[in-house]
This record gives sequence, structure tokens and C-alpha cells, in this order.
Amino acid sequence: MSKPIGIFDSGVGGTSIWREIRRQLPFEGSVYLADSKNAPYGIKSKEDILQLSIKNTELLLNKDCKLIVVACNTATTNAIDYLRANYNVPFIGIEPAIKPAALRTKSKKVGVLATKGTLSSRLFHNTSRMFAEGIEVIEQEGTGLVELIEAGKLAAEETKTLLVKYIDPMLQQGIDCLVLGCTHYPYLLPMLKELLPQNITIIDSGEAVARQTKAVLAKNNLLESADNHSEYVFYSNSNVDVLKGLVGSPDSEVEYLDF
Ligand code: SIN
Repeated sequence: MSKPIGIFDSGVGGTSIWREIRRQLPFEGSVYLADSKNAPYGIKSKEDILQLSIKNTELLLNKDCKLIVVACNTATTNAIDYLRANYNVPFIGIEPAIKPAALRTKSKKVGVLATKGTLSSRLFHNTSRMFAEGIEVIEQEGTGLVELIEAGKLAAEETKTLLVKYIDPMLQQGIDCLVLGCTHYPYLLPMLKELLPQNITIIDSGEAVARQTKAVLAKNNLLESADNHSEYVFYSNSNVDVLKGLVGSPDSEVEYLDF
């Protein structure tokens, strides 16, 4: 019997990861949890982020998910070690894509836009130390951006103003790669492309995460066969309309759930 992939995020941002998973794994169904009621995770304590991640994981396991994608950088960097140690399914996490940026930069200066929770985590610092030797990593907290994206303000003037405030200092310091270290931020790509000079490469984690999901499913003999009819179910515990606007299609079911 087919089982879905479970995906959770602090809100709607992880749907940028879901989209890439659906593209690379068209025969896999999924259950997505948007914990928008508790967004943003990025300003919460490590303990709160862990408890929210446990709550989401247990709900997805109750929905019979065979693998869980933690589609939130903040939850990954603060909770994935605990989840892997305590639950008996494979977990895929999202880390800011420092490694590809370090391999690509010519100016040896890489900007990372992420939440406070991600930038202050041990995992983020270990990754930067491991993969960015000889590279200057310029960190910028994206305070307020998640809230605007959760409110569906993807093209609003106030979103643009905040984004300019965050990217300008990084540009002035000479970055040529910008890492989007939060799964909400790919929804700002149209605006970023308008604001950034053409020589700046924007890097997010979606493609690599979907590739890793595929590899882990294959390794654990969990891939669905090509005749599986994939269903996509989305639950939000807050504003369902924004989620519907991002993923609504005939093959998706988007519902309110109190979790
Ligand atoms: C947040 O909830 O603050 C952002 C989620 C993320 O880090 O991807």
C-alpha cells in the first residue's frame, strides 16, 4: 500500500520545497503541514522550536508518512538531530546552501539571508566552518519577511522596502552569491531578480533537497511505482487562503486543521 511523504514547515514557505519534490518525484503523494499559527519559528527559543517540531512530526506519523522532510531551515538547524535520534523514519532537513555558494563565488564573499534561529544555530556555524574556508560569509537576519510572506504580501511595497534594507549592505560588501537560508524566501525570487544586479547568483536548497529525498527513498526501498496515483494534502492551522493561493490545483486538497 502506498504511503505519503510528510512535509512540515512553520508556514507556507516549505511549499517551495514541495513543488520541487513533486517535480522530481511525480509518483509520490504527500501530506504537508503549515504551522502558520506559530510562524515565525525564527524568533523562538531552541526549546520551543524543538517542541513544535515534535508536534508536527507526531501528526505526520499519525498520517502514516514514510519519510519526513523538515522543510524549514530553522526547524532543521534546531531539531533534526533530536528527531533522527527519536523517531523511526528517515528525516530530510534543509540547511542553508553554503557549500554550493562557496564553490561558486569568485569574490569570495557570500551573503546568507536567514532567520535569527538559523543563523544562531550550531549546525549553521558548523556548516559554514566546514564548507566556507577562505570565504567571507556575510550573515543577514531577514526579520519580518516570513510574516509578510505568510500574509501573502509577495509583491507589496513594504516587502520590497524591507528586502532592500537587508540586501543593500551585503551588496556593498561585495557578495556575488546570495544564499536564501529560509524556505519562505524563494517566494521573493521575482522581487529579488528585479533588485539584484545580474552578476549575483541566488542559491536556494529546493532542488538539492528533492534529490536527497529521492536518494533516501530509493535506499530504503520506499519509492512508489509509476502506477501510483499521487495525492497532495495540505493542512494549515491558520490562514488557509494564502496556502490555497500558492498550491491550489485540481490534484491538491487544502484544509484547515487545528494542530
Ligand atoms: C521561520 O519560521 O522563521 C522561517 C522558516 C525557515 O527558517 O525556513
